[in-house]
Amino acid sequence: MGGSNFAHGLVLIITASFVLAVSTANKDWQFGFNNHWPPHKGGSHHPKYRQAAPNKVIVGSSEGWHFNFSYTNWAFKNGPFYLNDTLVFKYDPPTDNTTIPHSVYLLPNLRSFITCNLTGAEMLANVTQGGGQGFEFVLKDWKPHYFACGQHDGIHCSLGQMKFFVVPMPHMGGFTFARALVLIVTASCMLAVSMANKIIVGGSEGWKFNVSYTDWALKHGPFYFHDTLVFKYDAPVDNNSIAHNVYLLRNHESFEKCDFKGAKMLANVTDGGGNGFEFVLKKHKPHYFACGVHEGAHCRIGQMKFVVEPLPRPSLV
Ligand SMILES: *[C@@H]1O[C@H](CO)[C@@H](O)[C@H](O)[C@H]1NC(C)=O
Ligand SMILES: *[C@@H]1O[C@H](CO)[C@@H](O)[C@H](O)[C@H]1NC(C)=O
Ligand SMILES: *[C@@H]1O[C@H](CO)[C@@H](O)[C@H](O)[C@H]1NC(C)=O
Ligand SMILES: *[C@@H]1O[C@H](CO)[C@@H](O)[C@H](O)[C@H]1NC(C)=O
Ligand SMILES: *[C@@H]1O[C@H](CO)[C@@H](O)[C@H](O)[C@H]1NC(C)=O
Ligand SMILES: *[C@@H]1O[C@H](CO)[C@@H](O)[C@H](O)[C@H]1NC(C)=O
Ligand SMILES: *[C@@H]1O[C@H](CO)[C@@H](O)[C@H](O)[C@H]1NC(C)=O
Ligand SMILES: *[C@@H]1O[C@H](CO)[C@@H](O)[C@H](O)[C@H]1NC(C)=O
Repeated sequence: MGGSNFAHGLVLIITASFVLAVSTANKDWQFGFNNHWPPHKGGSHHPKYRQAAPNKVIVGSSEGWHFNFSYTNWAFKNGPFYLNDTLVFKYDPPTDNTTIPHSVYLLPNLRSFITCNLTGAEMLANVTQGGGQGFEFVLKDWKPHYFACGQHDGIHCSLGQMKFFVVPMPHMGGFTFARALVLIVTASCMLAVSMANKIIVGGSEGWKFNVSYTDWALKHGPFYFHDTLVFKYDAPVDNNSIAHNVYLLRNHESFEKCDFKGAKMLANVTDGGGNGFEFVLKKHKPHYFACGVHEGAHCRIGQMKFVVEPLPRPSLV
């Protein structure tokens, strides 16, 4: 599922960057490029191309690692990160009953990241290891890393937004590095726009009662910025038709309970006809969608709800 889409996206971006890079490069540069990217195991470095020094980055910057801070946003703003960069997680060890303890876990895959499922996660740092200079984690592998706080069965991860993911990029030497980065960013922007997808919610099922949209979202995710979700459902023709609509629920708690207090109606019972109702994922936050008819019964017993947290395009992380 997600993992392969993700890898696919990454491959596309890297291919495009490569093509661009090679087409504008001289022979020397190309040689350096090949030598450094992707990094070969134990690959020799062309003496001409110095490795840029790895950085130490404090997760959350001055905020540190705490509840109720969007680390996804933070990672988006402070990225990209590179191989051999060090992430430093700073959080106070519990001293009395008033300190909220935190920890750092590495989740096994995108699915567990999206659902904050800690089963199979690896504890990197316990509740005391974030004290002092903080806990340091070196990004050694060229793969997505899914970080989360593991306290309270993942509540800190889901409600507290204590999660983010990082795909470290390979470093390249000196001058060529800056130049390559510009090319990569350009290529990524072009791709990011061209890769934005239109996704029909529920696929051929459309938006209807008794389909598990949570399952659907997990199978068809991840979704990215500027992807469009299309909700298709028939407008009611008489009093016997089953009508639907689309609401955006306030938060995780209202999503769990199918509580429509303060929810925003995105589409009424007729808006899903024809080509359907389109919603563009423009915000960097979880979106809680649900059908609101019959006081939330379609949401509660009809499974007409799902959550989407659009991810930045892999290249931008
Ligand atoms: C979370 O942060 C927001 C804004 O930063 C604040 O208004 C809110 O009270 C905080 N909630 C909790 C539970 O700390
Ligand atoms: C990362 O550091 C290791 C040694 O600590 C080194 O062998 C490797 O080449 C470095 N990788 C990059 C991409 O800088
Ligand atoms: C923490 O709470 C426990 C029980 O709730 C209590 O026995 C203990 O004295 C408290 N410790 C502090 C430092 O407040
Ligand atoms: C969490 O992940 C485990 C293993 O991948 C899986 O067996 C379990 O059903 C998941 N739990 C939830 C609530 O999705
Ligand atoms: C956390 O890990 C450190 C080092 O591995 C250990 O010394 C400490 O006892 C652990 N603390 C807890 C609360 O498990
Ligand atoms: C819901 O779907 C299941 C299996 O797809 C079916 O057995 C059941 O009758 C359906 N219930 C309703 C109320 O449509
Ligand atoms: C639908 O029901 C309302 C009252 O419940 C009734 O006034 C109306 O005529 C009905 N419309 C149709 C098309 O059956
Ligand atoms: C639904 O909204 C559309 C505009 O988006 C409006 O034209 C239509 O009358 C509304 N339908 C109902 C049943 O409220």
